[in-house]
Amino acid sequence: MNIAVITGASSGMGAEMARQVDRIYEDGIDEIWLIARRVERLESLSRSLNHKAKVISMDLTNNKDMHELFVLLQKENPNIKLLVNASGYGIIGKFKDIPRKEQSGMVRLNCEALTDMTHMALKYMHKGARIIQFASSASFVPQSGFAVYAATKAYVMSFSRALNEELRKEGISVTAVCPGPVKTEFFDIAEKHGKILDIKKYIMSEAKNVVKKALVDAYHRRSVSVYSISMNLFRLLTKILPHDAILFLTGLL
Ligand SMILES: NC(=O)c1ccc[n+]([C@@H]2O[C@H](COP(=O)([O-])OP(=O)(O)OC[C@H]3O[C@@H](n4cnc5c(N)ncnc54)[C@H](OP(=O)(O)O)[C@@H]3O)[C@@H](O)[C@H]2O)c1
Repeated sequence: MNIAVITGASSGMGAEMARQVDRIYEDGIDEIWLIARRVERLESLSRSLNHKAKVISMDLTNNKDMHELFVLLQKENPNIKLLVNASGYGIIGKFKDIPRKEQSGMVRLNCEALTDMTHMALKYMHKGARIIQFASSASFVPQSGFAVYAATKAYVMSFSRALNEELRKEGISVTAVCPGPVKTEFFDIAEKHGKILDIKKYIMSEAKNVVKKALVDAYHRRSVSVYSISMNLFRLLTKILPHDAILFLTGLL
């Protein structure tokens, strides 16, 4: 059985990924596995898809839930054609003002769970398979006021690019998706303790455009996917300018 596995499928870009994969992969995928904690959201999404979908309500940071997924994969022994790791969250604010649990939770979900999912899934992936990892433009340069989140996304970017190289000979590609701000529920959580920079409000992208570009880049087996002129320009600047200077300037905003 050929499947696509999508984490973070209950909202935002994960849900949009499920909708676009459903449309694009008319043949070649028998089932889409939808993973997140909010089961009603996943069930409602699954009903709207043309493909058969499996709803897996689980907390990716919970060891018991992860073990159950491990056992399910062993039992079903699927051929994973596409893995999308879209689960993730970020909290804006000064490091010392954000509770420890929320800070370490970002590391656990954005880094540890993503790594674990990728390792678990790889056993069921073969030549031609693709992995899409949601990093962020926050991975390009450290961000004061978003320190831990940016660091987790730098991890995702570094890990994904290295893994893409490691898996090249096996014919499996890894694409790190690096959006700037995107209109999703992400900011409901992100703005719990602080506000996003005003400038980010003017460059918000639509989830459907970011996801469409990510799927095209993954199709072409590109290692990095950056949507929008402003984010490509920002990436270029982070390659040219010293990071200390960018940190100082963004600190002034
Ligand atoms: N929106 C942006 O501006 C932006 C920009 C750059 C990168 N990103 C990245 O893009 C990815 C998708 O973000 P989004 O904008 O689509 O955010 P979103 O709408 O808030 O979606 C986040 C998803 O993660 C899931 N999730 C959170 N905690 C989880 C847990 N413990 N176990 C399982 N699933 C969990 C949520 O589902 P449940 O709550 O149902 O579990 C939800 O489906 C994230 O990795 C984010 O860091 C977002």
